[in-house]
Amino acid sequence: MTKVAIVYHSGYGHTAKLAEAVEEGVRRAGVDAVLLKADDLTKPDEGPWDELNSADAIIFGAPTYMGSASATFKAFQDATSKVWMTQGWADKLAAGFTNSGSVSGDKLQTLQQFAILAAQHGMVWVGLGVPSGFNMKEHRWDDATNRGGYWLGVGAHSPVDTSPEEAPVACELETGRLLGERVAKSAIRWTQTA
Ligand SMILES: Cc1cc2nc3c(=O)[nH]c(=O)nc-3n(C[C@H](O)[C@H](O)[C@H](O)COP(=O)(O)O)c2cc1C
Repeated sequence: MTKVAIVYHSGYGHTAKLAEAVEEGVRRAGVDAVLLKADDLTKPDEGPWDELNSADAIIFGAPTYMGSASATFKAFQDATSKVWMTQGWADKLAAGFTNSGSVSGDKLQTLQQFAILAAQHGMVWVGLGVPSGFNMKEHRWDDATNRGGYWLGVGAHSPVDTSPEEAPVACELETGRLLGERVAKSAIRWTQTA
């Protein structure tokens, strides 16, 4: 069966909520999903690497800390160098999501970091594919999907004084589900033609 792995870090729980939404989106498309913590994958020879190696697509997720992916995600990223040596993830699909305290918060940098990681592995990047939901005067900020206007992946917003129960809000979580669904459907097509 087609399988999508989601590997993420979350220091305070907001990005974890988004990761769960991405997982729901994958399952909504009828595809197997596995949710993994980057915290468990910071060493090349320890942790559930088999789950990543057997996936058809890997979705990367991390909060944006100081303008890039959080340090724990970077530890995971560096630990993937062992797989990189053999290009073990070549031709898998890849995608990404991030979340930050500011509306922008330099999230694009984090998404680019994920895309470059994927490129180094010879993976094939899947963008968000959800039109900007807040670029016209009749649009409503409170319920727009992809309200930040990202194309590379999901860029969600959680004000720093909110709890994970409050943010990311419903439209941001739905954007996460749409990414998961898109990657899952792409993976079905990709594995049929591979
Ligand atoms: C060390 C640190 C650095 C941060 N840097 C940024 C930043 O560069 N841009 C931003 O908008 N928010 C920044 N934030 C806010 C977080 O991105 C925000 O609180 C996010 O929701 C945290 O996600 P998490 O709960 O999954 O850890 C930072 C937070 C921390 C703790």
